Amino acid sequence: MAQGVEQKECFSDEAFIELRDIIYKASGIFYSESKKYLLESRIQKRLVTLKLRTFHDYVEYIKNPLNKDELKLLFDVITINETYFFRAEQQFEALEKIVFPEIIRNKDSLSSPIVKIWSAASSTGEEPYTIAMIILEKVKPLYPKVQFQILGSDISNQVLEAARNGVYKDYSVRNMPENYLKKYFVVKDGLYYLKDEVKSIVRFTNINLFEPSQVRMVGSCDVIFCANVLIYFDIVAKQKVVSLLYEVLNPGGYLFIGYSESLHGVSKAFKLVHLPRAIAYKKE
Ligand SMILES: C[S@@+](CC[C@H](N)C(=O)[O-])C[C@H]1O[C@@H](n2cnc3c(N)ncnc32)[C@H](O)[C@@H]1O
Repeated sequence: MAQGVEQKECFSDEAFIELRDIIYKASGIFYSESKKYLLESRIQKRLVTLKLRTFHDYVEYIKNPLNKDELKLLFDVITINETYFFRAEQQFEALEKIVFPEIIRNKDSLSSPIVKIWSAASSTGEEPYTIAMIILEKVKPLYPKVQFQILGSDISNQVLEAARNGVYKDYSVRNMPENYLKKYFVVKDGLYYLKDEVKSIVRFTNINLFEPSQVRMVGSCDVIFCANVLIYFDIVAKQKVVSLLYEVLNPGGYLFIGYSESLHGVSKAFKLVHLPRAIAYKKE
């Protein structure tokens, strides 16, 4: 108890502001005063691992150029990685029925067209793998000549490692249609192992959306999913990230964001498109 009190007092406003600014400058993730307690509980894990006593010690540690890898480990503990298969059901339906056919039609003159899809904050991989399964199941049979490239990326190496492993618990598959579960997973000891057939068509890499050079490296995309990550940024960071996404999107390409997110006040560059059961942002 006494130790708990001591540690609470250790996270001074000064240390909080310094750490908050370090995180914001590096990633766009913004911790408001009201989220101080959340940051505190997450950083606590790093303090224990590093055997540091106070948050001030941690600030000094992370500022030291000798410890430049600490920022990457910090991203593992401060990011919120909630996701599951078929989370954005209506968006995936629109992708399959409207967006892919339209994009493929526009590439009709090419002998072997490539459609590139980027899941830009893919966490443990459920989102890009859902897209991969829909392509295998519904889209590829209609367009056998089209090559689909799927990239999943995240700022956290820990979730990227889990994504590459492709082993999931009940929570992740709770919204998954039964036929997909049966066809694309092997169930063993209560775990769901994604088959190589799906894993092999998604590539994962670390991309910080707040770093222009990293985003530009992705190259041109036809579809971008950037879902449930803009909520962690402030308005300035949202504007910066969304304008970078606009840059790498092909004309005619689509951006999908989370159901609770909006580009209102963030960007006027896109055309808001009402699809049957979802909305998307199109680059004209
Ligand atoms: C809540 S998950 C969303 C997962 C998935 N897109 C979905 O909607 O189910 C948010 C992810 O964004 C990642 N993230 C946060 N800031 C980021 C940044 N600056 N660059 C890239 N990824 C970031 C987090 O690591 C986390 O895995």
